[in-house]
Amino acid sequence: MIRSVVRGVGAAKPARLVKNADLEGIVETSDEWIVQRTGIRQRYIAGEGETTASLGEAAARAALDNAGMTPDDIDLIILATSTPDNTFPASAVDIQARLGMTHGFAFDMQAVCSGFVYAISTADLYIRGGMAKRVLVIGSETFSRLLDWNDRTTCVLFGDGAGAVVLEGNEGRGLTSDRGILTANLRSDGSHKQKLYVDGGPSSTQTVGHLRMEGREVFKHAVGMITDVIEASFSEAGITAEDVDWFVPHQANKRIIDASAKKLNLAEEKVVITVDQHGNTSAASVPLALATAVADGRIKQGDLVLLEAMGGGFTWGAVLLRW
Ligand code: ACO
Repeated sequence: MIRSVVRGVGAAKPARLVKNADLEGIVETSDEWIVQRTGIRQRYIAGEGETTASLGEAAARAALDNAGMTPDDIDLIILATSTPDNTFPASAVDIQARLGMTHGFAFDMQAVCSGFVYAISTADLYIRGGMAKRVLVIGSETFSRLLDWNDRTTCVLFGDGAGAVVLEGNEGRGLTSDRGILTANLRSDGSHKQKLYVDGGPSSTQTVGHLRMEGREVFKHAVGMITDVIEASFSEAGITAEDVDWFVPHQANKRIIDASAKKLNLAEEKVVITVDQHGNTSAASVPLALATAVADGRIKQGDLVLLEAMGGGFTWGAVLLRW
């Protein structure tokens, strides 16, 4: 059976670090309020010349280095983003060109904060269906450029960054057969559109727009949706929370993560938390967290890793994989 195995992981952050205290001069807020309500202490914000494509390229190069591969080894690039450099072409194609690739194919995937989980599930299907052998899956975002910097209820929550993984089919490469993606479950429900959306777009307003969110409403739905889809994954894989070595959730809010882990009986020490360091980086949050936990030696080959995300749409999903 062909399985898609993670062979490398990488991350890229903008140069500029913005601490909570730095936001006190922009909107009426405080470090105490932000930490208490969200767990966020700092975030990175893209500066001049830093874009979704440039951050995505840097994360992709780091993941390729980590995998011991070059762009020549890659057949497909899937970029999860809601903040592309241009309306079109896809920023994935820009990254393909930046990597010097003129072979294979590349496209963007848009599922907001669930983008990376959607993209890695899609990459898995291309590999198992035989259309690609090695796929670069990137989550890259510059949400700072969609924020209303006068709206304290949203601008303190988000950050910019990118993360990437190289996925490879395990056939014929001597990779042990129990490694790779075991289950992927995706969900969406467009009836929640107004709770989290951008009030612009080429077709509706011919503007870029700003992020709008009913934070309390999002919070209310998040834990139930996340735990439902994870329980479906557990039952499909025939495992329990005890079998999971690492829970790598979407990093939106520490209270959502803690409540989800508690409801699932996932021990606190198995939860990878980076929201304090990065804020909510949307589709980049899961691969950034993965890159952090691999670099510091927590996630190791053979570990059972649970990825989860939930975001605008609403979209949500979970992926179980053996590292
Ligand atoms: N600084 C200080 N005070 C603030 C700020 C701020 N940045 N923002 C809001 N407040 C005030 C409000 O005005 C309100 O004041 P009032 O009581 O005088 O009206 C008070 O703080 C409480 O506001 P609430 O919105 O009730 O605060 P809540 O505890 O719900 O926390 C938050 C808000 C952090 C947005 C929370 O609802 C949340 O995390 N929701 C989930 C949203 C999310 O994470 N979205 C990310 C994308 S979706 C996803 O990734 C899951």
